[in-house]
Amino acid sequence: MQKNIAVILGDGIGPEVTQQSIKILDAVASQFNHEFNYTYCLMGADAIDKTGNPLPDETIEVCLKSDAILFGAIGHPKYDNDPSAKVRPEQGLLRLRKSLQLYANIRPITTYPALAHLSPLKSKQIEQVDFIIFRELTGGIYFGNKEVNEDHTRASDDCVYTRDEIERIAHLAFQYAQKRRKKLTLVDKANVLETSRLWRKVVQELAVQYGDVTVDFLFVDNAAMQIILNPKQFDVILTENMFGDIISDEASVITGSLGLLPSASAGNSSSLFEPIHGSYPQAAGKDIANPIGSILSAAMMLEYFGMLEEAALVRKAVDWSLSNGFVTRDIDTVNYYSTTTIGDLIKDYIDNKIPSAVNKNNIALSKSTII
Ligand code: IPM
Ligand code: MG
Repeated sequence: MQKNIAVILGDGIGPEVTQQSIKILDAVASQFNHEFNYTYCLMGADAIDKTGNPLPDETIEVCLKSDAILFGAIGHPKYDNDPSAKVRPEQGLLRLRKSLQLYANIRPITTYPALAHLSPLKSKQIEQVDFIIFRELTGGIYFGNKEVNEDHTRASDDCVYTRDEIERIAHLAFQYAQKRRKKLTLVDKANVLETSRLWRKVVQELAVQYGDVTVDFLFVDNAAMQIILNPKQFDVILTENMFGDIISDEASVITGSLGLLPSASAGNSSSLFEPIHGSYPQAAGKDIANPIGSILSAAMMLEYFGMLEEAALVRKAVDWSLSNGFVTRDIDTVNYYSTTTIGDLIKDYIDNKIPSAVNKNNIALSKSTII
């Protein structure tokens, strides 16, 4: 199969982690006789520095023509503490989501038993946690009318949703629930917000078409508690843009390994795949960032292409690396390997080059990844 992939390396650690994914995709391509063509595009602080625009038109054009987009990370501290900045890196990502109608952000929250000790929660609480968040991504308060008065004493952001916007992501979430444990939880604030009452109404109506799925409803403040108190109760969580932004970050830390988590943003014509972590500017260029969030995002991309065997091999390679202690510094602060070495090892596993007894000393010295 031939696929055209738009690659946005982005800011901070984005380039170094994404380069590991490219390595892995190339290994998959040669192993399974595929051809992946990459077109590199600019977005974020990197794009502002080079063009003055956080999302050059050319990037949108390339993305629209691609089969999928692989994205690194966005954001730079020089914009974060400057409320008067005219352009911000994040505007690029928001415009890209809107232009491509990437309406559903999908974040699987998976735990790895070997890494349970890293979780801020007790091991007992996170055993068997396995849920997936569907966050609406192109509507709500993020995209409503924004105003600030002349003397900057009053500001507002409108939160707007239409039935169509709710329906399209709700269908997707119901279909996923059917393939999983058949439970869907809508997170909203229907006791206060009109938009939330519309979400509830639409989801209740659609539930009739998915009779095998049990639906329940949680207010977002309660959901924030439940995610910590009893995360294994969840299967599929469906929610609007802003609530999803907040609870998906909350959920991501319960596994203790933020650097391992991937995400997909599904659209009508193309979809975007990115690790959930941010640009982590303090680590940029140091070869210490965890590339696995990006590599597992590439695995989600392979699944999206229908390359299920290929994706399963990537996941197996990642499991192999984690269970053998081949991890970056965020996972083990004593025995750790570089971003590049982890990428090389996972690639070697895919190439079938890993002997059963691996010499960790040589890996540590970066002499060879496989002897
Ligand atoms: C995310 C991020 C973005 C968001 C930022 C970078 C605009 O936090 O993808 O969750 O708020 O959606
Ligand atoms: Mg966020």
